[in-house]
Amino acid sequence: MSDTMVEKQSFARYKTNNTIEEGDLVVTYLNRETMGMIRVRKGEYFNCKFGSYKHADMIGLEYGTKLGSNTGRGFLYLLHPTPELWTLVLPHRTQILYIADISFVMNFLNLKPGMSMIESGTGSGSFSHSIARTLAPTGHLYTFEYHQERVNAAKKEFEEHGLSDMVTLQCRDVCKDGFDMENKVDAIFLDLPAPWEAVASAKKAFKHNKIGKICTFSPCIEQISRTVTALSEQGFVDIQMFECLIRFNEIRVIPMWTIEEAMEKQRAVEKKRKRDKPQAASKKNGKRQERRTQEDTEEESSKDKVAKLESLVDDSNDSSAAATPMSTSGSEAEPSSATSTPVVAPEATMPSATTATTTTTAEAEPRERIDPKNVVVTRLPAEQRGHTSYLMFATFTPAFQQPSLREKKAAEAQS
Ligand SMILES: C[S@@+](CC[C@H](N)C(=O)[O-])C[C@H]1O[C@@H](n2cnc3c(N)ncnc32)[C@H](O)[C@@H]1O
Repeated sequence: MSDTMVEKQSFARYKTNNTIEEGDLVVTYLNRETMGMIRVRKGEYFNCKFGSYKHADMIGLEYGTKLGSNTGRGFLYLLHPTPELWTLVLPHRTQILYIADISFVMNFLNLKPGMSMIESGTGSGSFSHSIARTLAPTGHLYTFEYHQERVNAAKKEFEEHGLSDMVTLQCRDVCKDGFDMENKVDAIFLDLPAPWEAVASAKKAFKHNKIGKICTFSPCIEQISRTVTALSEQGFVDIQMFECLIRFNEIRVIPMWTIEEAMEKQRAVEKKRKRDKPQAASKKNGKRQERRTQEDTEEESSKDKVAKLESLVDDSNDSSAAATPMSTSGSEAEPSSATSTPVVAPEATMPSATTATTTTTAEAEPRERIDPKNVVVTRLPAEQRGHTSYLMFATFTPAFQQPSLREKKAAEAQS
């Protein structure tokens, strides 16, 4: 490409100069849960709870740059748009396919650059974006959607995302009117409420002289059973069904305390609390303070100890959220104010699993500072994105186009 030619941004490939220019799309990554997409325009600002960012400051930076906010408190990453990121930030007009299903389908349909494929319905275009990149630069995606507003929105996105050369979008009811394509494609994907109604027309669209693959995506087993019947009636072979799930695990580093350390730390916290607010305490609180002082000096009763330890262990769940994340994600640049303390019984400590680095959260009493060992933990987030559906695969073989043995014999008998 010559120096004077402006490279059109595309979700199908990275920009050659990897540099953000006026008018480019940028994915703003604050953390895994907080992403968006902006078009960079001089004079505009991107504002979020972690600060304000001038678009002009982004121009000339490389994609992947970590940009500090104007207040100096937060930061964000400026990422080049990709189909994977688009799936996470796109405006939902329908339910969409997520990356677990998309990648599985692409693999089982044997998709490669240069192939031609049919998809219906287009919906929010989540699947279409990934497929267009896989088939690029010489392949083609024919996508069909019968909802006119969805067609208009998807068309605009394909153009803005530099994919319109490799995607043809048609407004059409494929169950009623079919695809009107013959001997054209290598693969077909149907994400429709009634895929069985499109199977006969889909069969005609396959290249007649090649093996082709079809996949249908359905949330209910009743839909699956009707689709299997239609696929068998049309002579498809190798019919298989899968359910595909992805479970994301958060990885964090948290401080690990022994019971003794945790109790000592808790006493220090209480002492500090007492020292900081001696007057503010109400009469009732005064009594409680008195009792705490006693507890500091006397041995705690075993019942109190158990109760206190239980509350500490409960707190440890929250503390992982406030602990140092392993990833570089997020604009949570402000220091953590966590006061909870994960504890382990002395015999349960695992020195081999601990790391050499030392961080402390919630130092209440510098003089009584305890440096815990760090431990790497994983946990499942409360919510997982994506929903379970059934993926049905089947194979088209060129033999379909030949008359069956029975048909051949009948023809021979007639002649
Ligand atoms: C679940 S959405 C597809 C989502 C898409 N796979 C994605 O990842 O964004 C199903 C779409 O199929 C469309 N649809 C349903 N029946 C159709 C038909 N007979 N012909 C064409 N489109 C149809 C719906 O309007 C809807 O937009």
